Amino acid sequence: MDAGSFNGITKQGHLEQSNLSALLMIFTGSHILSVSQFDRASIDTIFDVADNMQPYANRQKMTRVLEGAILGSMFFEPSTRTRVSFGSAFNLLGGEVRETTEIKASAIAKGESFYDTARVLSGYSDIIVMRHAIEGSVQEFSEASRVPVLNGGDGSNEHPSQALLDLYTIRKELSAQGKTIDNMHIALIGDLRYGRAVHSLCKLLKLYNNVQMSLISPPELSLPESYISSIESAGHAVLETEDLQNGVKGADILYLTRIQEERFPSQGEADKYKGIFRLNHSIYTEFCEPNTVIMHPLPRDSRGNANELDNDLNENPNLAIFRQTDNGVVIRMALFALILDVVDLVDKYARGVNWYTAKRF
Ligand code: NCD
Repeated sequence: MDAGSFNGITKQGHLEQSNLSALLMIFTGSHILSVSQFDRASIDTIFDVADNMQPYANRQKMTRVLEGAILGSMFFEPSTRTRVSFGSAFNLLGGEVRETTEIKASAIAKGESFYDTARVLSGYSDIIVMRHAIEGSVQEFSEASRVPVLNGGDGSNEHPSQALLDLYTIRKELSAQGKTIDNMHIALIGDLRYGRAVHSLCKLLKLYNNVQMSLISPPELSLPESYISSIESAGHAVLETEDLQNGVKGADILYLTRIQEERFPSQGEADKYKGIFRLNHSIYTEFCEPNTVIMHPLPRDSRGNANELDNDLNENPNLAIFRQTDNGVVIRMALFALILDVVDLVDKYARGVNWYTAKRF
């Protein structure tokens, strides 16, 4: 996807400016459709803004900077975290959320085009997040939208906000161990063919230096060749293997994925691949380094025939999956604040909270 084709987005050169207000102008009003839009400077900006959102997400203080604004939330595929955390992020900034879920509950079921739906709904919202099973659908929708559109996942193509929260998590987890994204070793495990979170993450990792990648999947579910060749041309070392026990050795990060059964021609076809790779306490302790961080975009498939990430790791302090989901809120708050150009106002609209706040973090 051509980074230059979006409204006001990361064109090389603009982002060489380190000045925050110059960067804010680039985010303002932009669609977020692909992680190809970002370079390292824009990612650092998102992460800095996300860090500043932490006390609001923790309910230590509140802000009403988006009071009156409306998020149109359109999820035409199942979603728990992405849908709810986009909504919560908008609420935490003071805005309101209008949800459309399921195609059968919308006029698309009556034959309405993305063009008409986008023209209509962008009249009712200040910003829209959309998920849909067809690759490229969110981009098509954005072309007719009158307000910024964020890609909440389009088929097996991309999942930009997930990749940003994953990278933010990786950075935080590694920095606690004195390590960086540059020079890390990550093992990506499972359905690398259809997993859009992995696809977006691989594109982002190309921006970093000397990343070692172990790609652990059945051959039929391997990462598409175009991703592998562009990772290799970014100078990273790639090892493809079907051997989980050897593949995880020496990794700083394990990133597990669910078999994306909804993308297979039939359920029977998908079922063939479930349960091939299962990370559990005994494999982790025998084959991984002591502090290897365990990640998964979730949902993990906890059904007996799948169970790619076992519950017996739930108490392992290196299991970062729920820190990942928490990080999704601050990353999405940062995206809203940047796109709607209120970053500098968030703290000005801050107040204390009056209710009992449980310690979540
Ligand atoms: C992922 C997705 O929808 O692509 N989930 C998510 O958004 N956290 C991964 C998946 O469904 O397996």
